[in-house]
Amino acid sequence: MTEPRTTPLEGFRLVPGRLDRAAQETLRDAIRAVVAAAPLYRPTMPRTGKPFSVRMTNCGSLGWVSDQTGYRYQPTHPLTGEPWPPIPPMLLDLWRELGDYPEPPEACLVNFYEPDARMGLHQDVDEEDFAAPVLSVSLGDTCLFRIGGPKRGDPTRSLRLASGDVVLLGGAARLAFHGVDRIYPATSTLLSQGGRINLTLRRVLKPVDAIPAPEFLR
Ligand code: SIN
Ligand code: FE2
Repeated sequence: MTEPRTTPLEGFRLVPGRLDRAAQETLRDAIRAVVAAAPLYRPTMPRTGKPFSVRMTNCGSLGWVSDQTGYRYQPTHPLTGEPWPPIPPMLLDLWRELGDYPEPPEACLVNFYEPDARMGLHQDVDEEDFAAPVLSVSLGDTCLFRIGGPKRGDPTRSLRLASGDVVLLGGAARLAFHGVDRIYPATSTLLSQGGRINLTLRRVLKPVDAIPAPEFLR
């Protein structure tokens, strides 16, 4: 272990092996259908226009996109102009079970990592609502995931995420920096061509009920 030891981060939760092989196959097939309707594409970084090494698509009423003008959520695929397909019911069930949040997620980002893809350290901050956790599911090859604290310079620790693992970033960990340093090729047989899929469920908008009713309606 080369990482410095850090105290466990409140609100970070790893549920190893939450999905068994049969559930992983069902979810993989559901994501194949999503990708058939909303093709994977390679987003570009704001300002620099540098392409991501990860390919992406989304399901849900809102999808996270990045291009030269910035990061944002939008209701349609940037290349096809079509609405994103719905979030597979199995993922909504997982959110109800583990999310500890009364409203459903609007967004499910689908990240596809080829063996040489990675994701730099970042915070998930494009949502209005940080009270909800971020719930992510790993499928396919194992990755080396890194998580720090709410400041970029905070110490980080690294852990492996395998197919079927679920991670929650809630509480203090909701704004923790995190990223994927590497993929371990041929560590799973779930995806015939190899690689890793990460599904990230997020609540984007504040629940409507949270907006106080105008005076005349009270
Ligand atoms: C992300 O933070 O968008 C992806 C994390 C992961 O691939 O596990
Ligand atoms: Fe993220």
